[in-house]
Amino acid sequence: MNQAQNQEIKKAVLAYSGGLDTSVIIRWMKEIYNCEVIAFCADLGQGEDLAPLTDKAKKTGASKVVITDLREEFASDYLFPMLRANAVYEGHYLLGTAIARPLIAKKQMEIAKAEGADAVAHGATGKGNDQVRFELTYLSIDPKIKIIAPWRDWEFESRSDLIAYTKKYDIPVEATAEKPYSIDRNLFHVSFEGGILEDPWVAPPESMFATTTSPEAAPDTPQTIEIAYEAGNPVSVDGKPYSPAKLIAELNKMGGKHGIGRVDLVENRYVGIKSRGVYETPGGTILHVAHRAVESLTLDREVLHLRDSLISQYASMIYYGYWFAPERELLQSLFDKAQAGVTGVARLKLYKGNVILCGRSAPRSLYHQEISTFEKDTDYVQKEAEGFIRLNAMRLKLLAQQK
Ligand code: ARG
Repeated sequence: MNQAQNQEIKKAVLAYSGGLDTSVIIRWMKEIYNCEVIAFCADLGQGEDLAPLTDKAKKTGASKVVITDLREEFASDYLFPMLRANAVYEGHYLLGTAIARPLIAKKQMEIAKAEGADAVAHGATGKGNDQVRFELTYLSIDPKIKIIAPWRDWEFESRSDLIAYTKKYDIPVEATAEKPYSIDRNLFHVSFEGGILEDPWVAPPESMFATTTSPEAAPDTPQTIEIAYEAGNPVSVDGKPYSPAKLIAELNKMGGKHGIGRVDLVENRYVGIKSRGVYETPGGTILHVAHRAVESLTLDREVLHLRDSLISQYASMIYYGYWFAPERELLQSLFDKAQAGVTGVARLKLYKGNVILCGRSAPRSLYHQEISTFEKDTDYVQKEAEGFIRLNAMRLKLLAQQK
C-alpha cells in the first residue's frame, strides 16, 4: 500500500461514466479503503442512455447512484460564457473537454457535501489535463477534501489488467470491442486521442467520426442559416428560438451534416507533454463564425482589439483547469461587459466543411454605410486626414532626420 492508499476514507463521491475504468474504480476503492462509494454520473449530452447506469453501478458496489441532467446548465453557464469570449486554445481547439470538467467536479462537491462524504474520486490518468481540471476545482471549493485518483496509484497497467479484475470480482461490463483510441463526448464536442492517433503522421480513419460526415460526402447543395444574438448569446436559428442546450444540439445536427468542425492538432498539455488530438465541434464552429460576424458590427475597435489580445490567456486558463479562479472570472467580467451591445444576426452558408459568412446585421450597428461609402459623403471630411497623417508621422520624421 502506498501513501495515497493509506489515507482514511469513509465515503467518496466518484465521477462515474459506466465504462470499464470507473467500474473498476468503484470496486477497487472499496477494496483499498473499505469505504462507501457514491457514483455520480453527469448527463452533459454525451448521447448515451444513462438510465441503466443506476443498476449497473449498484451491482458494481456503489451504495448510491446520482444521475443529473446538466445539459442546460452546461450550455448556459459554461459553454455560452466561453463562446462569448471566442475562446480557442492554440489556434484550433474549442475546449469541449476542458470546459466540462469544472462542472462535473463542482457537482461532485455538492453531492459530497449533501451526503457527508469526505472524499471525491475521478478516473483521469496521471498524464493528462483532466486530473488537473478536476482537482483544481475540488480544492477551490473545499481545501480539505480528500482526493482519490486511482490511475495514479493502482497497479493496473493496461486494459487487460482491468478486464481481469472485472472477471475476478464479477463486475458487470459490456463486452464492447476496444476502440483503438480514447473518446470523450458531450453536447459540445467529441474528442479522440491515443492509440492509433498517437502517430501524428497517420490520418484518422473516417469510421472514427461520430457526429460529422466528411466534407467530401457532405451535400453538394449549401444550406443557408441565420443565427440571432442578444447581448453576446445566440438565441435563435432561422427565427426559431432555442434554449442554450437545444440551440447547440440543433447546430450540431446542421453542422454535422455539412462536415463542419473537424480539427486535427498536436497540442501542448498542461503537464508538459505534446499530444495529438482530433475533435468534432460542429455547432461550436458555426457559433464562432456567427459571433465574430455580429461583433464586427457592434464592438468598438479598441474594445475589440484589447479583448482579442486577452483571448489566448483566457483559453489557457480554461485548458489548464482554472475555470473557478479569480483570473478567469476577472477576464469573464471584462469580456461580458463588452458583449452588452452584441445584438444582431449573422447569415451563414454551410457547405462541405466550411462556414461561409454571407451577411450580418445589427439594430445598433456601429457600421455606417453613409460614412464608409466610396461615394460622396457628408460627415467625413477627407481634408482632415492630411493633418491626422502629418501628426502621426512626426516621430517617424524625427527618426528619419537622425539617420
Ligand atoms: N486533449 C483534450 C483536452 O485536454 C481532450 C482530452 C480528452 N479526454 C479524455 N479523457 N479522452 O481537453
